[in-house]
Amino acid sequence: MTQQFDVAVIGAGAAGMMCAAVAGQRGKRVVLIDHASKLGEKIRISGGGRCNFTNLGAAPQHFLSSNPHFCKSALSRYTPQDFLTLLKRHRIGYHEKHKGQLFCDNSAEDIITMLRAECDLGGVSWRMPCRVDGLTQQDGLFHIATDAGVISAGSVVMATGGLSIPKIGATDLSYRIARQFDLKVVETRPGLVPLTFDAAGWQPFADLAGIALPVEVEAGEKKARGFFAEDLLFTHRGISGPGILQISSYWTPGSALTLNLLPGIDIAGLLIEGKNSNKKQLGNTLSQWLPGRLADGWLTANGFAADARIADLPDKQLQRLGDTLNRWSVKPSGSEGYRKAEVTLGGVDTRELSQQTMMATKVPGLHFIGEAVDVTGWLGGYNFQWAWASGMAAGLAL
Ligand code: FDA
Repeated sequence: MTQQFDVAVIGAGAAGMMCAAVAGQRGKRVVLIDHASKLGEKIRISGGGRCNFTNLGAAPQHFLSSNPHFCKSALSRYTPQDFLTLLKRHRIGYHEKHKGQLFCDNSAEDIITMLRAECDLGGVSWRMPCRVDGLTQQDGLFHIATDAGVISAGSVVMATGGLSIPKIGATDLSYRIARQFDLKVVETRPGLVPLTFDAAGWQPFADLAGIALPVEVEAGEKKARGFFAEDLLFTHRGISGPGILQISSYWTPGSALTLNLLPGIDIAGLLIEGKNSNKKQLGNTLSQWLPGRLADGWLTANGFAADARIADLPDKQLQRLGDTLNRWSVKPSGSEGYRKAEVTLGGVDTRELSQQTMMATKVPGLHFIGEAVDVTGWLGGYNFQWAWASGMAAGLAL
C-alpha cells in the first residue's frame, strides 16, 4: 500500500521534530520517519541529561562552515528568545549555567516531550522504528522505500544528523541521499572531540590524567583560526575539557595547537626577575599557580628537577620552562573520533541549498536541515539552536 503525504521528514531528532511540527501546524500532511526505537536519544543524552538547548548569545560567528554566511538567515529568523517563548508555553524551567548556556532545570526529557506535543498539535504521522532503504523521484513525487512500505511525498526533508555516536543510531543517510541527487558534500570529520597522542609521546604526561585547569588555546590560521579561554582536562590518552573540545573543531590532523597553561602570568619573566632573592625550589614556586601534582609532573616531563633552586638555574633554562607553560605547542596524533565527538564537521554543502528554505536549488522539494548540513556550532547550545533554526526555516517553507 502506498502512503501519501505532503511532506516526509526523515530523522526525528531536534531539527526533524521542529520542522515536522511547524509544517504540520501550517496544515501540511506530514510523516516523520526514524529508524530508532527510542525518540530523541541525542537530546536525551545532551548536556549531561539536562540538554544545553540554546545559547543566549548565539550568532553566526559561533558556527563553522565552508560558507560562513549561509547560517545567518535562519539564525536571525529564529532566535534563542523564540525558543524560550516555546519553552515558556510548555512551562519548562531552565537556567543559565556558563556564558549564556541554557539548560533544563529538570531533564532533557522535557524538550523531547515538548517537541512530541508540538508534532501532535500539527497532526504529524509517525513511522518509528522504520528502516529507510532508498529515495527515488518520479511523476513529481518522492518515493521512500521503507520496511513499512513505500511512502510518497511532494517534499522530503533530510534530518538524519551527522556521524557522531554511531552507537545510538547515527548514519550517513543524508550525505548518501545528497550524493545520489548530485549534490556536493563537504568532507566530514569529528568535532567537539577529545584529542589524543601516540602512547610513547604522551607517556611523560599520562600521570597528569584527571587534572583540570583554565587555559588559553589556539589553532588554525587566518579565517579558520580558533581561540578559546576555557578549561583543559588531562586524560590518559591526551587532552579534553571544554577548551579542547572547542579547539578540536579548528584543529586539522597534522597541525599543532598552542596552549597557555598560565594565562595572564609571564612565568619566565617572573622567575628571572626575582631569581637572585629567590631561595625557593622550582616545584614549590610553580605550585603557587598550578595544582601541585601538575607542577611536579610538568617539571619532570620537561626535564627539570622539582627540588632545583631557582637561584641556581641559568636564565636560559628559566626562559625555556616559561615557554613550555605559556606557549606549549603540541601536535595531537588524532582524536577520539565519532565514538566520542559531539558533532560532525562538514556535511551537505550549503552552496547547494537555499538559505531561506534549506531546499536544494537543483532538486526542488528536497531539503536538508540540522547537523547533516555543513554548519557546525561551538560547544554551548549552539548546535541545538542551529537545529531549531534550520528546522523552522524549512518548516515555514514547505
Ligand atoms: P539528531 O542526531 O538529533 O537526529 C537525527 C535523527 O535521525 C536521529 O533520531 C536518528 O535516529 C535518525 N536517523 C539517523 N540515520 C537514520 C536513518 N538511516 N534512517 C532513519 N533515521 C535515521 N548540542 C547542543 O547544542 N547542546 C548540547 O548540550 C549538546 N550535547 C551533546 C552531547 C552529546 C553526547 C552529543 C553526541 C551531541 C550533543 N550536542 C549538543 C549536539 C546535538 O545533539 C546535535 O547537534 C543535534 O542533535 C543535531 O540535531 P539533528 O536533528 O540534526 O540530528
